[in-house]
Amino acid sequence: MTSTDHEPAAPPRIRTFHPRRGRMTSRQLDALERLWPTYGLTVPEAPGVPIDPAELFGRRAPLVLEIGSGMGDATAAMAADDPDRDYLAVEVHTPGIANLLDLVGRQGLTNVRIAEGDALDLVRMLPAGSLDAVHVFFPDPWPKTRHHKRRLIQPTHVALLRSRLAPGGTLHCATDWAEYAESMRRTLTDDPELVNAHPGWAPRPAHRPVTKFERRARTAGREIFDLVYHRAVAGTGG
Ligand SMILES: C[S@@+](CC[C@H](N)C(=O)[O-])C[C@H]1O[C@@H](n2cnc3c(N)ncnc32)[C@H](O)[C@@H]1O
Repeated sequence: MTSTDHEPAAPPRIRTFHPRRGRMTSRQLDALERLWPTYGLTVPEAPGVPIDPAELFGRRAPLVLEIGSGMGDATAAMAADDPDRDYLAVEVHTPGIANLLDLVGRQGLTNVRIAEGDALDLVRMLPAGSLDAVHVFFPDPWPKTRHHKRRLIQPTHVALLRSRLAPGGTLHCATDWAEYAESMRRTLTDDPELVNAHPGWAPRPAHRPVTKFERRARTAGREIFDLVYHRAVAGTGG
């Protein structure tokens, strides 16, 4: 008998995503095969070796974490417009990862890396205070009340994200789901170390590219909500 025999089983993990399959185009398959070894990293499910961003990118630069990069269009566009910062995208959907690799390859971007796996596991592997910004654009809204526990923006996840932000660093969320937006605002405002950069919703920032999700929402007449919060700088009250 081992010492673990009497330990209660760990509760099942509550995921913020639905595992989904998806067919890849030949272009995406090709990008995955050629570019994954250079730009990709796998997020282990068990606690992994800490990530050294300077080693990952081969330089020391402000780091932006893009959670749930989807098909990667926004990540590639922002990274191309912002060469002095590095972009670490994390996604679970393989065709989206492959699509971003293809964009990175075609545009010759050197400031993008792509992690495959759960963003929350990846964040735990990053050093405290290592992020200049975290982007959570159009996270799955999980609209049913019984699924709210799957949402990315909830107090424990926000505390984890905030711990990896540098003082003054930015947490930027966007959603087209009004009720989730209200819940995000409450959660972010209640966090003891986050400060809203605006009196309420943030104006739509020009640097956030329009993706399929925003286009669809606009076509359906839904409003888009941006929330921009900064991690307080000690001694300045924010
Ligand atoms: C609605 S899509 C939005 C994609 C993209 N941000 C955009 O605006 O086009 C949300 C994405 O988040 C990903 N996702 C959800 N939870 C995640 C997690 N814990 N780690 C990594 N990706 C996640 C999903 O796979 C999905 O592709």
